[in-house]
Amino acid sequence: MRKVFAPLEFQSLCEEFRASGKRVGLVPTMGALHRGHAALIEEAARRADEVVVTVFVNPTQFGPAEDFAKYPRTLDADIELAQAAGASVVFAPSAEAMYPQGDETRVKLSLLPRFLCGEVRPTHFEGVSTVVAKLFSLAGRSVACFGRKDYQQLKLIERMTTDLFFPVTVIGVPTVREEDGLAMSSRNRYLAPEHRAKARAIPLALDRAVAAYAQGERSVARLEAVAREVVASEVDSVDYVTVADSQSIELLQGEVGERALLALAVRLGGARLIDNVVLGEEGSPLRGAS
Ligand code: PAJ
Repeated sequence: MRKVFAPLEFQSLCEEFRASGKRVGLVPTMGALHRGHAALIEEAARRADEVVVTVFVNPTQFGPAEDFAKYPRTLDADIELAQAAGASVVFAPSAEAMYPQGDETRVKLSLLPRFLCGEVRPTHFEGVSTVVAKLFSLAGRSVACFGRKDYQQLKLIERMTTDLFFPVTVIGVPTVREEDGLAMSSRNRYLAPEHRAKARAIPLALDRAVAAYAQGERSVARLEAVAREVVASEVDSVDYVTVADSQSIELLQGEVGERALLALAVRLGGARLIDNVVLGEEGSPLRGAS
């Protein structure tokens, strides 16, 4: 397992891989790796010859009152997990290395960051698009895997990649879940046992909306209400439970068509948890949970 800390060394390494005929796979992460991240690494390993996992807790995507300082940092364990899942390189730069002259240059999308999480985290997606653009610039031609768990992030990165002509193929990987259906997340480790038990209401809420949709419910308001009712009583507060267009993320009104994103964000015991399902495309999050 090769460990790289300097951005330009990482860039040269990716160039060397390609020069010797190897396909590069990229899995950007903020570390504290779990089975969800492992699924991305495994998918990248199926599509590429050398898989690079980046581990970087990106300061520019955290708001001033958010958990940047206490975000879990577990590099040694991350390297082990990444290797076991099929990665050959870990790129773990410092903030100074990634932003040597500050963050003067930023990548900002106009519409996609406004909805859903963007309403409560107004600067978050600009930090994400900026750092992912930097990582894509360093990695060059590659296949990059992202999780559907962060669905809005995935759509934003797909759009940025198209708009900026990055030579990167972006792959969306299905959400990996705990046995009870809770989506795996580095932030789950913030949950005390009583909150962890209540978090089961999140996949249950999505499950109820999937069932209602399967029975023919198409009203945006009723689909949102079905999910909200299940989750609202169990969590501290609800940031949103929203039906949106599955490509543009724009909020929908009236009736949904062939498919629609149902996304939610809640606060529970100090953690902010998000989850989603694409109605008309995916089954219940309770089915197939491992
Ligand atoms: P992080 O939260 O570490 O997530 C890294 C990648 O793992 C993202 O693509 C995310 O969607 C995916 N992921 C997380 N939990 C998952 C799960 N349960 N199943 C499948 N995939 C999952 O997302 C970020 O970091 C950052 O914003 C980043 C893109 C690295 C930019 O800093």
